Amino acid sequence: MSLPSAYRKVIATQFSKRFREASQIVEVPLQPPKANEIVIRSRYAGVNATDVNISAGLYTPGSQPPIDLGAEMTGEVVAVGEEVSSFKVGDWAVSNTLGGYAEYVTIPARRAIPVPEASPEVLSLVVSGTTASIGLNTVGEMKSGETVLVTAAAGGTGQFAVQLAKLAGNQVIGTCGADDKIEMLNELGCDRVVQYRREDLGRVLSAEYPRGVDLVYESVGRQMFDTCVDHLAIRGRLVVIGYITEYLAPPEEMTSNRIYFKLLGKSASIRSMFLLHYMKQVPEHLARLLELYREGKVIVAVDPTGFVGVEQVADAVEYLHSGQSSGKVVVRFGA
Ligand SMILES: NC(=O)c1ccc[n+]([C@@H]2O[C@H](COP(=O)([O-])OP(=O)(O)OC[C@H]3O[C@@H](n4cnc5c(N)ncnc54)[C@H](OP(=O)(O)O)[C@@H]3O)[C@@H](O)[C@H]2O)c1
Repeated sequence: MSLPSAYRKVIATQFSKRFREASQIVEVPLQPPKANEIVIRSRYAGVNATDVNISAGLYTPGSQPPIDLGAEMTGEVVAVGEEVSSFKVGDWAVSNTLGGYAEYVTIPARRAIPVPEASPEVLSLVVSGTTASIGLNTVGEMKSGETVLVTAAAGGTGQFAVQLAKLAGNQVIGTCGADDKIEMLNELGCDRVVQYRREDLGRVLSAEYPRGVDLVYESVGRQMFDTCVDHLAIRGRLVVIGYITEYLAPPEEMTSNRIYFKLLGKSASIRSMFLLHYMKQVPEHLARLLELYREGKVIVAVDPTGFVGVEQVADAVEYLHSGQSSGKVVVRFGA
């Protein structure tokens, strides 16, 4: 297959958390790969809450715009450098390095992940799925027979946290902010769904889980974080995965006692997990997730809204931040 001479991608021409204002679609030449590189033609790009942090320059400290946007994509390998033996033309690959919002992505072969198919489901497992798996198992030291609380449970990464916690033999509580996500969360395995706009999470936990929660997979922040900390059980662990409520709003300044007042009396702990610091663990966790997916033990919910091409990337990012999405939000490229 001959490669086109040019392709389009989404870059930030100024740093801003307002993704649409920061970003611009540009057309650039498509160069043949260097000896150690592969060229991937995009099928799907994954949309992430943190895209607004990337467009604000927070992932590239010290750099100046322009920078490439997008954190993950999958597609078909269409060209390989002469020294590459790990991929051949026609293979499927995932890139989880910056620059995923592009019609073609060129990366060193050692940074590409081979996958069985270039589908939204498999793409979802690579970043959102491994974040949940590493966050719960490695950082959260998840066991069986515990109570596990997942916030933003119907989201891109939350859906995997729910299923992995259930598969491990735990009682799972999931939060969401809309009624139309409740059924999905029941199907994914939640024993208790808390639609936080209808029910007060703190009250539910006090009444129904008086012993507290053993493990929290927390990605919302603000009041949700505070409530989760207040309801940790003895030796409970809370893993900070994100704090989406403060990505677009100015950070809230807090005046309160230091956090150790809440932790030591319960031997509780707060940990955090940022996938970039766990890249070496990704292949092992991805292999297990792919196996579970193949066996039908883990399902992948993909948001049905059909965003297509570089033109709709900003729409997709804004949609994710509207709180309406269920499952993984993706942008489709090509046929
Ligand atoms: N640490 C890591 O390496 C890592 C990797 C991947 C993702 N994350 C984090 O995981 C979280 C989820 O990311 P995602 O990409 O998978 O997104 P997502 O969960 O698919 O979408 C975001 C969801 O967050 C919930 N939400 C709560 N408060 C919100 C607010 N003020 N504005 C918008 N949404 C709000 C909404 O669901 P409900 O309100 O219905 O619950 C919304 O659907 C983010 O905090 C992200 O940064 C971290």
